[in-house]
Amino acid sequence: MGEVLYRKYRPTGFDEVIGQEHIVQTLKNAITQGAVAHAYLFVGPRGTGKTTLARILAKAVNCPNAAKHKGEPCNACQNCEDIASGRALDIIEIDAASNRGIDEIRELREGARLSPTQMRYKVYIIDEAHQLTKEAFNALLKTLEEPPAHVIFILATTAADKMPPTILSRVQRFDFKKFSVAQIEAKLAKILAQEKVKAEAGAVRMIAHAAEGGLRDAESMLTQVLSHTQGTLTEKTVQSVLGVASFKQVGDLIDLIAKGDLKEMLVYINTFHNEGGSAEEFLKSLAQYTRKMTLLKIDADMRESVVPELTEEQFSAMVAQAKRFELAALRRMCEALIEAQENAKRTSLPLLPLELALMKISEK
Ligand SMILES: Nc1ncnc2c1ncn2[C@@H]1O[C@H](COP(=O)(O)OP(=O)(O)OP(=O)(O)O)[C@@H](O)[C@H]1O
Ligand SMILES: [Mg+2]
Ligand SMILES: [Zn+2]
Repeated sequence: MGEVLYRKYRPTGFDEVIGQEHIVQTLKNAITQGAVAHAYLFVGPRGTGKTTLARILAKAVNCPNAAKHKGEPCNACQNCEDIASGRALDIIEIDAASNRGIDEIRELREGARLSPTQMRYKVYIIDEAHQLTKEAFNALLKTLEEPPAHVIFILATTAADKMPPTILSRVQRFDFKKFSVAQIEAKLAKILAQEKVKAEAGAVRMIAHAAEGGLRDAESMLTQVLSHTQGTLTEKTVQSVLGVASFKQVGDLIDLIAKGDLKEMLVYINTFHNEGGSAEEFLKSLAQYTRKMTLLKIDADMRESVVPELTEEQFSAMVAQAKRFELAALRRMCEALIEAQENAKRTSLPLLPLELALMKISEK
């Protein structure tokens, strides 16, 4: 597996895009109705499909077959092929993080005036658009005010609040959402099936959790973990490569806390650490787990809103564990764990903040 998974499994058409339903639908409608806007703004967290959808849109507006096929690019014509291979001269991707100045935008404006060489539309994809300088934004604004008919701008950013309001008022904005653990798990499972790799369900889930809502991170982690895997992908490998803890491991520590045996707790996390686990990751997962347990203690009916990612088994386990604590004790645990995360920023000893928190939690 030479290729990086997130590139290999980047969706090539709208139908492969996970989530972001209303964005996909609106773009497809625009294409079938021939009502494409001249400037879009794609806003959202890392790895949620902004660049992916920008490229699909660039194909769809230039694919002669798309309008007949519900807006889907055919991925077979010359234009689709040239765009897919990155050879198309009319699709211009600019990373605003490294080309943020007035000169680059002036050049862009000059270029935008000229007709496309081969396609119907010139498409400018400007990544990390919030990084443009004030002068560059002003120059861009002039083009957005009177865009040539053959040009489409797609600005992508993770920080819309850093975009000038004058620009925001000139673009059609789409907000991309983070993915749920289940959505990430499903895509990872599909990749594993195609790569013909067997995996423990818990291992895939650990990666899906650790990715925190972004698919690129999830797929990068999977690439990394698979490079250390022979045969079946296991929880153990995920722990040692990514340092993250499984649901079960965190649950086991919670059991020890309920039991109140400080020595066992300390041995547990030290063993985790000695086996390649990251104390910081464990702390993060423990804080998350405790928070969820606390909310379920308040009312387990909140399941759908607070723990939609848990399986039936995990949910029951968490509710049962919550019963072993007083609400006040859970609240104190949450507080001790936040403090531990603060402390973690101030020390080079990775286990100490967690150890201190466990001592505090064990005090009566
Ligand atoms: N909606 C999605 N459906 C399926 N796969 C996705 C989706 N979004 C992202 N991915 C996967 O994650 C990878 C990275 O996505 P993409 O480059 O589109 O993210 P991005 O939103 O542009 O992130 P960044 O802000 O970091 O540039 C893709 O190559 C693809 O494999
Ligand atoms: Mg991107
Ligand atoms: Zn095509």
